Amino acid sequence: MSTLVVVGTQWGDEGKGKIVDLLTGRAEVVVRFQGGNNAGHTLKVSGEQVIVHLIPSGILYPETLNIIGNGVVIDPSVLLEEKNELRSRGHFPKDSQLLISDRAHVIMPYHKIIDQGREDLLAGKKIGTTGRGIGPAYEDKASRMGIRMGDLLRPESLRTKITASLEEKNFLIQHRFGKTPLDANEVTDQYVMFGRQLEPHITDTSQVLYSRINGGSKVLFEGAQGTLLDIDHGTYPFVTSSNVVSGNASCGAGVSPTSIERVWGVVKAYSTRVGEGGFPTELKNSLGEEIRAKGAEYGATTGRPRRCGWLDMVIVNHSVRLNGLTGIALTKMDVLTGISPILVCTGYEIDGTFIDRVPANVEDFERVIPRYRELKGWNEPLEQCRSFDDLPKNARDYVETIEHLSGVPVTLVSVGPSRDQSILRQSPF
Ligand code: GDP
Ligand code: IMO
Ligand code: MG
Repeated sequence: MSTLVVVGTQWGDEGKGKIVDLLTGRAEVVVRFQGGNNAGHTLKVSGEQVIVHLIPSGILYPETLNIIGNGVVIDPSVLLEEKNELRSRGHFPKDSQLLISDRAHVIMPYHKIIDQGREDLLAGKKIGTTGRGIGPAYEDKASRMGIRMGDLLRPESLRTKITASLEEKNFLIQHRFGKTPLDANEVTDQYVMFGRQLEPHITDTSQVLYSRINGGSKVLFEGAQGTLLDIDHGTYPFVTSSNVVSGNASCGAGVSPTSIERVWGVVKAYSTRVGEGGFPTELKNSLGEEIRAKGAEYGATTGRPRRCGWLDMVIVNHSVRLNGLTGIALTKMDVLTGISPILVCTGYEIDGTFIDRVPANVEDFERVIPRYRELKGWNEPLEQCRSFDDLPKNARDYVETIEHLSGVPVTLVSVGPSRDQSILRQSPF
């Protein structure tokens, strides 16, 4: 058995796509297990940049099997667009490179209308969702009103399900959000067409994974979002609507928990957040802007500027515990070049008391005062470093401080967006 889960440890956009693309060079199967096209994962190889939202980040390797697991919510139009875009650029040559779970839930047009309609009505108290219909799709899954990928292959029962769902949804669309109601037949016809186009990919992916894992294939599980956006363990309610933590790789891919061997958490060398919600180490000053500019911190999905701040080890250690991290992939070290001192948050103060955990209550989280350790910066560019010893001493100290504060080895250091700008310190399998 050779399995590795890769998850985000902060608020998403840690560089999971880059890390999964790099590690796919040593894997045979890559599986997405939660989230949807709220994700934007950036891959950069030989100067070409590719952003994937639904298709797993292993897609640039023609011999690797990519799987979209049952825990993902799928917008078929986005998936088809992504497939066509990759094809037009000479990638994803064979349909057999991608399998989609017949149990994965489908994002319907009404989910997007509801997601955006709610955000509009929440003016001033928005979650800042990506507006892609993610929350409403997971709601329908939980309320047993959802449409699954397998349903797209059965036109008549699909029509019945969509008609039933729209009875409720159209009421909301019309009377709550003031929008035009949807026609069940039009929606069904469109989704039957998506089903026809995606049919070669749709199957029971849990069975495929079972035989691949038992057969000794190296399998990478690709997380989306970050642990602080987890529906249970994140900064609720400013979170996404799925479990992001490594435990959900099991449910969301349809494999047993005993099939998971290792878990690497992707840690960005500083913190970023898109959307609303508490962010104790946020830098609302020119340094925050400098980091945003140097790190190109703009959303890969919505293009929104990302809020930037210092690395927060309370957050990272929350992720270490919840995900059972066996390794840390530390990204964007190159962005910190030229910044000195560098601050690392090691705890919070609240009502005069020192704490080193994330409060569950959102109001408490918003008023914690971060306590920092100060580290010396470095001026040398890191983009050409290819071994740990190539890094300047203060950068090595930064890495070792993170290891010391988390108790987890930094198994990979990333010094640029490209696949080759990486220092792999431990084999992933
Ligand atoms: P993901 O959602 O976790 O896959 O991350 P995103 O792709 O949304 O955002 C990460 C951004 O940082 C992308 O633009 C990557 O190309 C870029 N990136 C990843 N690793 C590094 C790194 O080590 N250095 C720099 N400068 N950029 C990186
Ligand atoms: P990747 O995989 C960063 C954030 C949104 C919003 C909240 C809820 O690229 O790291 P949703 O549309 O999921 O209901 O929005 O979650 N969010 C992300 N932030 N990276 C992501 O994915 C995100 N996916 C969702 O900005 O605050
Ligand atoms: Mg992203």
